[in-house]
Amino acid sequence: MTQASKRTVILISGRGSNMAALIDAADDSAFPAEIVGVISDKAGAGGLGLAASKGIATRVVSRGDFPSKEEHDAAIDATLVELGAEIVCLAGYMRLLTTGLVEKWQGRMINIHPALLPLLKGLDTHQRALDAGLRIHGCTVHFVTAAMDDGPIIAQSAVPVLIDDDERTLSARVLGAEHALYPMALRLVAEGKARMEGGRTVFADFESPSHNGLVTSPGPSSEPVDLEALARFTP
Ligand code: GRF
Repeated sequence: MTQASKRTVILISGRGSNMAALIDAADDSAFPAEIVGVISDKAGAGGLGLAASKGIATRVVSRGDFPSKEEHDAAIDATLVELGAEIVCLAGYMRLLTTGLVEKWQGRMINIHPALLPLLKGLDTHQRALDAGLRIHGCTVHFVTAAMDDGPIIAQSAVPVLIDDDERTLSARVLGAEHALYPMALRLVAEGKARMEGGRTVFADFESPSHNGLVTSPGPSSEPVDLEALARFTP
């Protein structure tokens, strides 16, 4: 028996490229989640037009229309209920949610962060990865809890940091990984194969694909590594 697809609402503040990746994945009728709405806290968010062009309900719940953060989050919650949300995906939603809202949706609200948590919580993750001389960087999808970028991890994807990377090239590589990771993680949650229990992610009926590879940067490569160049970039 096929399970009914989970009604999923996406919260955005900006361009919405992860939102677009989730919408594309959910276009497949076999995908276990259906994107039923997109909410933005910014009227000018680029993603709103794209969502509307796909026939998805959009709502703007502007920060400035509410005297307090609590009232703004209450309006977000009311909009999630109005849209019939069962799962909430934060996709570049740039405001920390109040504890009350997070606790209400705990286990049903997930976020994507552009770093391998618990490293590099917060903003400017790509520049901070470069400044720290990281050779591996990546992205994480996690359940949302009250503390920022802190909830139980569902899935991660790693990318190499190349010797000549700058913030633009590194962020583009991570963003490509995000677009593949987020639909995969949403699938796990919607199918009930990744659940939040006792502050951890519990996986059920899920077999990791066999994998004995290493993610290594620099290399592995047939080219000899230029250690002098590497040293220049590694504090
Ligand atoms: C992404 O890098 C995401 O990881 C972070 O905010 C960015 C949003 O980008 N939370 P987009 O709006 O999905 O293009």
